[in-house]
Amino acid sequence: MNILFGGDYNPEQWSQEVWNKDMEMFRAASVDTVTLNVFAWGLLQKNEEEYDFSALDETVRRHARAGHHIIMGTSTSTVPAWLSRQHPEVLRSDYRGVRKKFGKRHNFCPNSPVYRRYAGALVQRLAARYKNERAIVYWHIGNEFEGECYCENCEKAFRVWLKEKYGTIEALNAAWNTAFWSHTFYDFDEIVAPSELADGEAGLAFMSAIKLDYARFNSDSQLACYKAERDIIKAEIPDAKCTTNLMGTCRTMDYFRWAKEMDIVSWDCYPGYRAPWSETAMTHDLMRGLKDAPFLLMEQAPSQQNWQAYNTLKQPGEIRAQSYQSIAHGSDAVLFFQMRQSVGGCEKFHSALISHSGRSDTRVFRELSALGAELKMLGDKTVGATTRGQAAIVFDWDSYQALEMSIGPSRDLRYVPEIWRFYDALYRRHIPVDFIPADASADTLAAYPLVLCPVLYMVKGDTAANLTAYVRQGGTLVTGYMSGMADGNDKIYTGGYPGPLREVCGLWLDERDALPPDESRKLSVGGKDDYTCGLLCDLICPTGAEVKARYGSGFYAGTAAVTVNRYGQGQAWYFGTKPDDAAFDRLVDEVVQGSGVQPPVDEPTKLEITCREKDGKRFWFVLNFTTEPQPVPQALSGLPDLLSGKITGENTQLPPYGVLLLEE
Ligand code: GLA
Ligand code: ZN
Repeated sequence: MNILFGGDYNPEQWSQEVWNKDMEMFRAASVDTVTLNVFAWGLLQKNEEEYDFSALDETVRRHARAGHHIIMGTSTSTVPAWLSRQHPEVLRSDYRGVRKKFGKRHNFCPNSPVYRRYAGALVQRLAARYKNERAIVYWHIGNEFEGECYCENCEKAFRVWLKEKYGTIEALNAAWNTAFWSHTFYDFDEIVAPSELADGEAGLAFMSAIKLDYARFNSDSQLACYKAERDIIKAEIPDAKCTTNLMGTCRTMDYFRWAKEMDIVSWDCYPGYRAPWSETAMTHDLMRGLKDAPFLLMEQAPSQQNWQAYNTLKQPGEIRAQSYQSIAHGSDAVLFFQMRQSVGGCEKFHSALISHSGRSDTRVFRELSALGAELKMLGDKTVGATTRGQAAIVFDWDSYQALEMSIGPSRDLRYVPEIWRFYDALYRRHIPVDFIPADASADTLAAYPLVLCPVLYMVKGDTAANLTAYVRQGGTLVTGYMSGMADGNDKIYTGGYPGPLREVCGLWLDERDALPPDESRKLSVGGKDDYTCGLLCDLICPTGAEVKARYGSGFYAGTAAVTVNRYGQGQAWYFGTKPDDAAFDRLVDEVVQGSGVQPPVDEPTKLEITCREKDGKRFWFVLNFTTEPQPVPQALSGLPDLLSGKITGENTQLPPYGVLLLEE
């Protein structure tokens, strides 16, 4: 297969005449893939007994005849109105504990047996009906699983989940530290779902352990819905490939757990209108890391979105560059939401390949069809190509949840921006990054000269032992404030922070200052003392670690702020505060130099440079996300550009949003 090009198509809204026109325009744009049937349950099933697949049959036939690949939705993420009326329990109860009425989408309770039964029956029929349809390349289960339900069914299922996890109520009490605030339970039936009625304020966890377990339970519940559909499909079609569209750094679903159940990861990429390009690159890398394999870019907007505060147009050339960025970081598809723009409902202002004007001489249609033709020409050259990171960043959904639910020490501390800051520093140095889970094996860690685990709040299982062994054997580890804080139940490690990471970091600390946004401390690095730092300031007591930066103000002026500990053959860095950009860059330079990482391109350049490998060939993706033309680094001159057919010379300049795909 080539790089899949096309996207969500919802033809149910139009007539035969429009379909025919669409098919012509798809041909003109080199569309080879459509995602169908993502939200059609209400049309496919009229009541308890009556199903009607005739329209879908016709659509599938039409696209199969045209030689399109089909990504087949299961339509189960929005329950129909009739089913909601007949069985209100299929709908969710929100955080306030209020049962929702029919409306919106993603509205099903994941633990409603009635929902599961009806969804299963629909998927059974879809799988049996289309099992011989060779045009179907993937099954797209549900859509963007997320959100929480606090209904009685979920509450009951939560108790079962807890019983399975803890065995006895005593074990649960101990794990949850319930002796505090009179929270002791004597029976599993006393446990309630931590809705607003029970636990208080949105976003804050008064009973942090229960809230954390509820979040895990919720992720597992939705995953169980995914798995149930997948199993039905695979029973009918053993070689079916199943996926669902993930949402990048979505906090509420533990995607490392999800990815284990998916044949291929796919995700929806909708960067905010001011999102730095390195943030999008990071999220692609995270999605690739989930299975350590290429993924599908399932959705992106051709131009304007509709749900941001300000829906800016994509600039000329931007969607092309954005699409190549996704391929550069591991995607084997460039798919869009959607093929034809809706005329009603809440997405009427979301852009599409074919806009309301219905014309093929629009800017967006032209740009997309040029991209489609280019990808067709590329063929399968890069499909399946792998990526080799030199640095690995630990991304841990448990730490993400627990950290952001915690009350204190600072409301400004957010997980993803902390990860991004380190990622961005490596990105600017053209160091390829892989994302790995916190339970990555010792062997996985050993493959990287540099491993970073910023704000690894929760440390459980073998993680501390593996990270310690990794450093002992020569690795360079970077961690820092709010790491090594709690066990798997959000219970703080005693004996000094950072708990089980104390030994490898060669330090301990007792106090952590949290500064308001308008306050900072002076910071001195390498004899230069006009830097600043903020957010958090750990009061570090080194027990062997060398001091790399010291506070220059506050009552702790003169004490350690950033340290490095030589341990065994390796070293462990500890960032006890958030240095300003200049200090941060200086420290990161030292981290990188000491780690033995060799950036593939050593010359300073503002271009994004990424490499994928296949069959002994290297594919260099060179992208210009700045607003000025940029010279192409010497190291890449002389290589042929697969997109223009030209050889890059010493004086090649890449314009803004310019793309080179160099083969080596
Ligand atoms: C999501 C959904 C799509 C569509 C787009 C629009 O990713 O999966 O159905 O609503 O957003 O941005
Ligand atoms: Zn529920």
